[in-house]
Amino acid sequence: MIIAGIETSCDESAVAILEIIGDKVAVLSNVISSQIAIHAEFGGVVPAIAAREHIKNLPIVWNEAIIQADNPKIDAIAVTAGPGLISSLLVGTTFAQTKSYLLNIPLIGVNHIEGHILSPILSASNISSINFPAICLTVSGGHTQITKINNTGDYELIGETLDDAAGECFDKIARLLELGYPGGPAISKEALEFNSDTNPVKITLPRPMQHSHDYNFSFSGLKTAVLYLVRDIKDKFKFEDIQSAVAYESQEAITDVLTQKTIKCAIENGISTVMLAGGVSANSRLREKFKQSAQKNNLNLFIPELKFTTDNASMIALAGYMKYINLADKQNFNWQNIQVDANDRIC
Ligand code: KG4
Ligand code: ZN
Repeated sequence: MIIAGIETSCDESAVAILEIIGDKVAVLSNVISSQIAIHAEFGGVVPAIAAREHIKNLPIVWNEAIIQADNPKIDAIAVTAGPGLISSLLVGTTFAQTKSYLLNIPLIGVNHIEGHILSPILSASNISSINFPAICLTVSGGHTQITKINNTGDYELIGETLDDAAGECFDKIARLLELGYPGGPAISKEALEFNSDTNPVKITLPRPMQHSHDYNFSFSGLKTAVLYLVRDIKDKFKFEDIQSAVAYESQEAITDVLTQKTIKCAIENGISTVMLAGGVSANSRLREKFKQSAQKNNLNLFIPELKFTTDNASMIALAGYMKYINLADKQNFNWQNIQVDANDRIC
């Protein structure tokens, strides 16, 4: 089956074409047009500008994805239906509806977070190489949640942030440190500049809710702690030293809590498969800590390749495919022989 994915929930216009044969997923194309440079001067995404950019870029991205995939015959389209910026979502869903009508193929609405949750499958050798149940930490700009995946399409929310998402925390701390947008990659880069032998700034930040008896998170206090800390030490040290020391310690604090609570959740629930997904899973310290902790506790860990961590359309196409075959299974027909028409809407 060849399925196209369309993603426009925030500031990336993305289209991907996947070919899925049995257990094997081949990414034929994965095209992303990022608006980061446009929004950077405002310090965050401006919804009205994002929508206009999608209108301009999405048809170009679609054509490029089709060309890179060698003009395949597409069987279905999956599109992000939510959550996200409504003005951005409307561009993608309207475009997808038009294409599905013109090509007379089914349209599948996908939850953006489900796309992230399933993204580690894109980097596994086969769909079935991940054994469920699994515990998945999804960390993005808008979400931080631990999900128990009983199977594809069958999810239980086990824990989530009570306030800010981890990505939001990175973004806000980066802004306080004047490091630019998006904050995650900027903090990561700045943290590499930190040298504990030569930097005079010695600080320890809190690890919020690290020992709470649940699987929830809280990151707004950390942002406030950084705000007061920077205010108090600003006149005592060079700003470059403060930037690298605070970037390093914030990254350590955030990644410590995310790693420890997720691994603890897997162990306490007797689950041996752990997954990590979402934009913040691009963070190399987080990936490193997850790998070390999973190995130490004999857990199987699945993390997407970097290109599938931040928003992309391959994860949307994959989630759409899973939704489609799960529905086909329930209705007891062979999805490979389904006669479809444009009235087939799974949204
Ligand atoms: O999943 P995503 O692309 O979009 C949402 O669905 O929100 O995640 C974006 C978030 C941003 O907050 C960004 O700062 C963060 O992911 N991020 C990172 C890194 N790369 C992106 N955070 C930490 N380290 C990174 N290397
Ligand atoms: Zn996302």
